[in-house]
Amino acid sequence: MSEAGIEARHLATMAIAQEAGDLARRHFLDRDAMAITFKGPQDWLTEADRQVEDLVTGRIRAAFPGDACVGEESGGTEAGSVWVIDPIDGTSNFARGVPHFCISIAYMRDRRIESGAIYNPITGEMFAARRGRGAWCNGRTMKVSAIADFKRATIELGWSTRRGVADYTALLTRVVGAGASFRRAGSGALGMAYVADGRNDGYAELHINVWDVLAGILMVVEAGGWTNDFLAGDGFARGNAILAGAPGIKKELMAAAAIG
Ligand code: IPD
Repeated sequence: MSEAGIEARHLATMAIAQEAGDLARRHFLDRDAMAITFKGPQDWLTEADRQVEDLVTGRIRAAFPGDACVGEESGGTEAGSVWVIDPIDGTSNFARGVPHFCISIAYMRDRRIESGAIYNPITGEMFAARRGRGAWCNGRTMKVSAIADFKRATIELGWSTRRGVADYTALLTRVVGAGASFRRAGSGALGMAYVADGRNDGYAELHINVWDVLAGILMVVEAGGWTNDFLAGDGFARGNAILAGAPGIKKELMAAAAIG
């Protein structure tokens, strides 16, 4: 694909995330009227998730009809030219009135993440990255934190019911035992964007899905950080563990998290 083709998709990730965010924001402000169900224990679904995903996939299919889409709500399969969409990441926050959620859109070509946009429509923050070009928050260049001491680090530890509670508490015990502080703010995509912007020093989760994390992986790397090989094996189709962080704590975080 030509450079212009990649650039057009990069611009589209941000424009579509912005438009989708505006729709999500309207639902958030009118959430008393919103239908809420559960896909499983602690796995929230609101009517906004489907509407936002339909808007995003509709825009992508109209502009790039040959590309594939994989979305949290409508599924899809990997292809050479594929968009990966989480219409609302942090759905439990969204449904409960906590303004920490986002739209996450990644574009991947031949297994390389080319572009990613993560947009929080409440704070108005557009996190974006383009492979080889950098990562930005509202146009400001992002850099991971310069931390070198694990005992001053804050690591976000994502959680879902897809892994047992004993495994989560063991992870937490190891990370905190090694001296870091921790948080769990409820949006994996924003957790990764926050690593890119130096607000978290690292992010770890024992299982996360591709739509939650693909845009964030590019962002962390482009901001000077590192991640594990999330796409190894069948990570795209079935999800995988994620570990990401700033270079100065890589050794300690890898040892404490024990995620390869
Ligand atoms: C979830 C959030 C959460 C993470 C879970 C995800 P959703 O996505 O990103 O922070 O820990 O693994 O499933 O359901 O809010 O889109």
